[in-house]
Amino acid sequence: MTTAMRSLIVGNWKMNGLSGALAEAASIDTLAGELPGVEVGLAPPFTLLSPMAAMVHHLSVGGQDCHEASHGAHTGRISAAMLAESGARFVILGHSECRAEGDDDARVRAKVDAALGAGLSVILCVGETARQREAGEAKSAVVGQLAAALPQGEGSAERLTIAYEPVWAIGAGQTPAQDEVEAMHRAIRSSLVAHYGEAGRLVRILYGGSVSASNVEALVANAMVNGVLVGGASLTAESFGAILRSIAGSGRAD
Ligand code: PGA
Repeated sequence: MTTAMRSLIVGNWKMNGLSGALAEAASIDTLAGELPGVEVGLAPPFTLLSPMAAMVHHLSVGGQDCHEASHGAHTGRISAAMLAESGARFVILGHSECRAEGDDDARVRAKVDAALGAGLSVILCVGETARQREAGEAKSAVVGQLAAALPQGEGSAERLTIAYEPVWAIGAGQTPAQDEVEAMHRAIRSSLVAHYGEAGRLVRILYGGSVSASNVEALVANAMVNGVLVGGASLTAESFGAILRSIAGSGRAD
């Protein structure tokens, strides 16, 4: 079941990286080739997508967001087909930073459909705010985000990954307690199975929010955690490589 899944480690570079950062990606790619037991992805800013995709051999490259429309008068936006043509294999959607800038559940759902329609895989981010957590509403907030955004179409579960990212943990240097992560991943798994049946057991559920080389081993020691989505610590080959090595050496890699 979940323990048989290959761990997926994805770096989200956010709005960081000029062309000099491609050297970091090249080193990360080389390391990914040496660690076949883990699956590695990088989501650089759009400007680096195409050169990075042309350069790597072992990791997959993805986008950080896309527009829900296929084309049109949307100044500054990028469509799912543009990502795919630039070499993206996946796109991160519903990230809390995009939700904070206006993406509501309906829009996230529309983006998920657009991405799948363009042939991309989707990493769908869900997570509660500090206020929701304090009010005891963390689980209902996350399950609600899932219910609103999970795609329905044939084969969509196969191209879906969920990232549980508590908003208060992102970039904050703090993570939830192990039992809190486990409880939330269990709730997400239940939602996936209720929605997709048996196929819902094969959807990977990542943890994200202040993942570092010092806490990743403990996080992935839990069989409910199928990998991690990493922000700040994915920006250099040194820090991201330490995370990859840690997971590859933890017994969680096949
Ligand atoms: P962080 O970001 O690792 O810097 O906390 C994670 C994310 O936003 O995906």
